[in-house]
Amino acid sequence: MTSTQPHARPAGEKGAFVREMFASIAPRYDLANRVLTGRQDERWRRRAIAVLAPNAHAKILDCCCGTGDLMFGLLRRDPTLTVTGLDFCEPMLERAAIRARRVRGAAQFVQGDVMAMPFPEESFDGATMGFSLRNVVDIDATLREILRVLRPRARFVNLDVSKAPNPIVKRLFDLYFYRVVPLVGGIVGGSRSAYTYLPNSLRHHPNANDLRERFARAGFAEAGYQALMGGTIAIHYGVKPQ
Ligand SMILES: C[S@@+](CC[C@H](N)C(=O)[O-])C[C@H]1O[C@@H](n2cnc3c(N)ncnc32)[C@H](O)[C@@H]1O
Repeated sequence: MTSTQPHARPAGEKGAFVREMFASIAPRYDLANRVLTGRQDERWRRRAIAVLAPNAHAKILDCCCGTGDLMFGLLRRDPTLTVTGLDFCEPMLERAAIRARRVRGAAQFVQGDVMAMPFPEESFDGATMGFSLRNVVDIDATLREILRVLRPRARFVNLDVSKAPNPIVKRLFDLYFYRVVPLVGGIVGGSRSAYTYLPNSLRHHPNANDLRERFARAGFAEAGYQALMGGTIAIHYGVKPQ
């Protein structure tokens, strides 16, 4: 992998680039996450799951599940849930499946593209997505597809890095995100180019208010967000209308 500029690529190529990139970092993805966030990601995930607040026995979809952190967080909170993880990267799913053996509850995995999911309409009582919306080819098409597979009144919760509104916080975060992450991610995660691409994908991502607008425009009701860590992390949410 030589280039870290997939935004300049045609849509089909961007998908393939992203899939291969995650395949290359899958073996050490979890360790890199913990080191790069000082384990704070676990706290943010618990918060996102609290925003979803699923009912007992609900069927939940975790979009772009990767190695399954949000899925296992959901099942730890409530083992009566049935959680389906969808991702298009096989090595990430393989790691998730291995981890699932140690978790109580029903976890199932499906390989597929979040922009064209292999599920009928109104299949799920809720959906989550973690640190992935920056990587999809088309955010609006992805949001509409998630809406399609949700049941009326089901909630979607998206956890991701975001752009801090305060310039000083943004400056400090940028320093960390664009300088430290590639360096440390390269050492711990095993791919400097992947950990250069991942922060860079934020540059082309809408800010928190704009993303809330995109949720609403895609058709989500009650679209909103919670800002964490000075707005460098955001939890966006919306509900499928009745
Ligand atoms: C940064 S990882 C996040 C994984 C996990 N959600 C987490 O919170 O740790 C992004 C994941 O999104 C997946 N992904 C990116 N684009 C996708 C797409 N169009 N369809 C399905 N999965 C996708 C990648 O394969 C990767 O596993």
